[in-house]
Formats: sequence, C-alpha cells, structure tokens
Amino acid sequence: MNLPIQPNDIQAVIEADRAHVWHHLIQHKPFETIDPRIMVEGRGMRVWDATGKEHLDGVSGGVWTVNVGYGRESIANAVRDQLVKMNYFANSAGSIPGALFAKKLIEKMPGMSRVYYSNSGSEANEKAFKMIRQISHRHHGGRKYKILYRDRDYHGTTLAALSAGGQPQRVEQYGPLAPGFVMVPHCLEYRNQFPDAESYGLAAANAIEEVILREGPDTVGGLCLEPITAGGGVITPPEGYWERVQEICAKYKILLHIDEVVCGVGRTGAWFGYQHYGVKPDFVTMAKGVASGYAAISCTVTTEAVFEQFKDDASDPMSYFRDISTFGGCAAGPAAALENMRIVEDENLIENTQVMGARMMDNLRALQDRHAVIGDVRGKGLFIGAELVSDRTSREPAEEKRVQAVVADCMAQGVIIGATNRSLPGFNNTLCFSPALIATASDIDQITESVDKALTKVFG
Ligand SMILES: Cc1ncc(COP(=O)(O)O)c(C=O)c1O
Repeated sequence: MNLPIQPNDIQAVIEADRAHVWHHLIQHKPFETIDPRIMVEGRGMRVWDATGKEHLDGVSGGVWTVNVGYGRESIANAVRDQLVKMNYFANSAGSIPGALFAKKLIEKMPGMSRVYYSNSGSEANEKAFKMIRQISHRHHGGRKYKILYRDRDYHGTTLAALSAGGQPQRVEQYGPLAPGFVMVPHCLEYRNQFPDAESYGLAAANAIEEVILREGPDTVGGLCLEPITAGGGVITPPEGYWERVQEICAKYKILLHIDEVVCGVGRTGAWFGYQHYGVKPDFVTMAKGVASGYAAISCTVTTEAVFEQFKDDASDPMSYFRDISTFGGCAAGPAAALENMRIVEDENLIENTQVMGARMMDNLRALQDRHAVIGDVRGKGLFIGAELVSDRTSREPAEEKRVQAVVADCMAQGVIIGATNRSLPGFNNTLCFSPALIATASDIDQITESVDKALTKVFG
C-alpha cells in the first residue's frame, strides 16, 4: 500500500531537511544529488517514506528500538493524558508513572531494587559509571576507579561512554578519551582468539581475569558488558562464559554492570538478556525498547546493596548521588513505558519473540546451506546476526561495500535490514535483524526471502 502524499508539500519538507538537518551517522555529501530519506508514517511492522514507498521494517526503527511496532494509539493516549495532567517536575520529586513503572519493572528483575531515570542509553551508562566512581571514592579510598569494557561492545556516544567503547571506528578522531577505562577481549567464538583452549567460554572469561590481575584488582571497580553484543556483530556468549564472569566479579569485588540498552524488555525472548544466563548484576541499564521510541526514557537499575552505599551517612553533605538529568523528570517516559510493558504482557510478545526468533534462525540457517557467503548465524529471540565471509574455511570477512550492497538491495525490495557499520575495521560484515516483537511468520519469511534474493544478486 502506498500513502497518498502530496508531492508539493513533501518537496518543501525535503528541501528544509536538506538545507538544515544534520542527520545522525551518515555522510551528507550524497544529499547534494539525492534526496535524504524521510520517514512519514508507520503502522505495525511497516513504515512509509516521503515518496510513499512501503517498507517492512526488519530492524525496529533502524536501531532495534520500536519493539511493540508503530502506530500504537494506546501509548500515544497514555502519554497525552499524562502530559496534560503533569508533564514535568525535576526527578528530585517523584511522579505517578515514574513510581508505578519502577515497581512494575523491578517485578521483572528479581534481585534488583532501584530505578534511576534519564533519557538515553549513553546517559544511563554514564550514571552507572559515576556511581561506580563514587563508590570507589566513598568506600575504597578512590582506588577502585577503573571500569572494564569489552572489545566489540558499545555503550554510547557521550565521551565517557565512548571511552568504554570497544568499536574503534566509533571512537576514532574523538580523543582524548576519559581515563580509567580498560578493554578486555571479546567473546566471539567464531573469531576464536584461544584456539588451544579446551573451553572457549572459560578462556574468554579468564582473559578478563588476566586484565584484572594486570591492572591490579584493587584498582578495578566495575565491569560493563552487553549480555549479547549488539552493534559489534550480534555476539551470543559462549558456553560457560557468564558463570565464570560472575565468579571473577565476586572474587575481586568488582561490580557487574549489564548494558541492556538493546536487549532489554523482551528483545531476546526474555525480559532481559542476562536472565538467559542466570547472571546476578549490580547494575542494569536499558533504553531503546523501554518505551519503544514513543518517548525518550532510560533507566539505570541497581541492587539495594548499591543504593545503600549512597545513603549510609546522612550527616555528610557529599554522600549521596549528586547527579541530575533534567529530562529524567519528564513524565511522558514512564507513562509510555508502563503502557509499552502492558502491551508486551497482554499480547504475549515475549513468547512471540521466542517462536518468531526460532523461525528466523531456521530460515537464516537454511539460507546458510545455500549461500556459502553466510559464515555464521547467531542470536537469541528476535535479535539475530548473519556474518558474511568471502571464504568459509579461512573466514575472511566479506567486503564491507558488498555487505552494504545486500542491505541496499533489501531496501530496494521494500525490506529494511541492518549491518554492522563503521564500527570494527575489516569486520563490518554482519547483517543484523531485529524486527518488532509483534512480527508474524509471514513478516519473518518476507525478510529472509528478501535476503535470499539480495545475496544471490550481490554474491551470485
Ligand atoms: C548496547 C548499547 N548501549 C548503549 C547505547 C547508547 O544508547 P543511546 O544511543 O540511546 O545513547 C547503544 C546504542 O545503540 C547500544 O547499542
């Protein structure tokens, strides 16, 4: 179905965009000769652009966000009702949706206790980093200030979050970075760095311990990991990895911070990615799927034990978390998040994610049998990556421009998929799929059929 868009109106929008909007994550030179893409409307799994063309969205708004799909009137109504009643007050005071959403969220996260609101994934991670630093100052004489992050993980765009960035092309040209962030090796078994190890999962986790011992355990305060690495190539953790990571954190009294900005609220077929692996985190951060992009909201969730460390000395004027995020007080965020969570529950979207995720995985594995260029397929729930290689034996990554040609061909067919891009030099070769949790079997099949056609066209 194409939308009835008036060419004259939309041309003015395109010209205003071309003249004045600085788009995210894209080179602008081409817009001197081609029109920037403008998305005009969305319903369910589908979006329409300014030319009226319909697309099936296989990546939930480009960056795994619109988990409950487009055009949800009930979320819009919940936000509207909240805005006319009470739109904003600084979060030093509470709000009705803020309190109710925090309670509902914590019910899904046994062992966790407190919710700190802000607006973006980067910011949610910065809060956790600041908390770890303040705990170090208040309880460890300032020594346990280092924060470990993992090769290939991404935690955001602000400078401290970038300093914890394991994707060199995101970081390049933005230095100098913040001190005190130290990288540990990735855990992608397909790119095994420990071929002689009996257990790859144990070896990859032990590599973290080696970094801790090298740096000095009394200098390391936190370890920040994605439960399943997203933009670094959809990396599911190997067998035994998380158990060992948890042991290491306990052994050296290192706080474990799980970045669920992508995986949180259903994406992987569980409420949270870490819950697949029995992990007990100290911090969990989340953003994208929390309100599916209907309002800006992120959460830094902590245990009560972490929270207690900020209120143990009321006589000290510096002893509490002295942080504010102005728009963390916007009531639209938790109002949208509450309704988003109701939808996930009432429409059984976690179960749907498991079933549709399994279908997508099967479809992609079937494609792997027919296209030698697919070296590896991995993921969980509706969060899947297909790594493209020019040679299956040597695992030489496919050329980035051909990977992008596959994405472009799917787009031409009216299906939006993603690929790792400008993240990992030489390894931007993984196609990414993250359709909304409402996807049906025919949506999944349409996405994988378009990939089939695109691979045939680009790689033969
Ligand atoms: C795992 C992860 N953490 C953090 C972020 C940063 O979130 P935001 O762009 O909302 O700041 C992202 C963004 O893609 C992400 O993928």
